[in-house]
Amino acid sequence: MAQNPLILGGTTEATALCLALSEAGIGGTISFAGRVARPVRQPLPQRVGGFGGVAGLVRYLKEQRISHVIDATHPFAARMSRNAVRACAEADVPLIALSRAPWRAASGDSWTHVPDIAGAVAALNRPAARIMLAVGRMHLAEFAPNPQHFYLLRLIDAPDAPLPFPECEVVQDRGPFTYAGDLALMQAQRIDLVVSKNSGGSGAQAKLLAARALGVPVVMIDRPALPARLETHEVAAVLRWLGHDRTDRGV
Ligand SMILES: NC(=O)c1ccc[n+]([C@@H]2O[C@H](COP(=O)([O-])OP(=O)(O)OC[C@H]3O[C@@H](n4cnc5c(N)ncnc54)[C@H](OP(=O)(O)O)[C@@H]3O)[C@@H](O)[C@H]2O)c1
Repeated sequence: MAQNPLILGGTTEATALCLALSEAGIGGTISFAGRVARPVRQPLPQRVGGFGGVAGLVRYLKEQRISHVIDATHPFAARMSRNAVRACAEADVPLIALSRAPWRAASGDSWTHVPDIAGAVAALNRPAARIMLAVGRMHLAEFAPNPQHFYLLRLIDAPDAPLPFPECEVVQDRGPFTYAGDLALMQAQRIDLVVSKNSGGSGAQAKLLAARALGVPVVMIDRPALPARLETHEVAAVLRWLGHDRTDRGV
């Protein structure tokens, strides 16, 4: 029977996987939450919007006769990933996560680890600084308790609500970002602290490499815990898992 995979997307890894599935003639559907006004165009059919929790996803998997689910969402999209584990178990559909390896501090880095967004907000309860706040659009309001800082924000879409910061600047860009570009941006903005999610991958790492070069400390938000699941960092391993690689080496 033909395979009909569902890719839970919203990342560069999901886009790379779509291309690989399309080129291999496997096909499938990519799903977006609908957070971004203009998602990157994909070579596979796409659907947009939540499924309606675990029950909604189970229904979708059955109605659409999905053969496999590949969770290629962002490591901080924890609710979607938890729902996928539960729904796939319930609907008896095989699941694999295509994720990015987390970033690790190296020599020259000065990272303070915090467990979540609330921890990052607490870490900013300090005298005024010039902060590059790289946490995405959805969590900005949570930083309102620390209005003493200047915030540099980099967002895909312009904010749709007034920002809760008296002093801030928005750079609209979707990445991937370069070391030279982020070095220049952080120097021009005289950034003296970076707040980052531990997203992993290469496209957003430039700011951390620039922070290292400039001796700028980083508040690093660690990843949310997720249930055990089959996981890989390689698009090729997903194709092997689907049985589309002659070397058949497994994941
Ligand atoms: N969180 C980040 O830092 C971040 C960064 C870059 C990209 N993204 C992408 O943005 C999307 C939303 O992230 P989030 O942190 O808001 O997720 P989340 O908190 O885990 O998900 C909240 C709800 O949004 C819906 N949803 C999430 N991803 C979906 C997808 N790919 N397709 C269909 N519905 C989806 C689900 O709704 P229902 O329960 O109704 O099914 C889910 O329960 C994800 O696709 C993620 O890959 C997130």
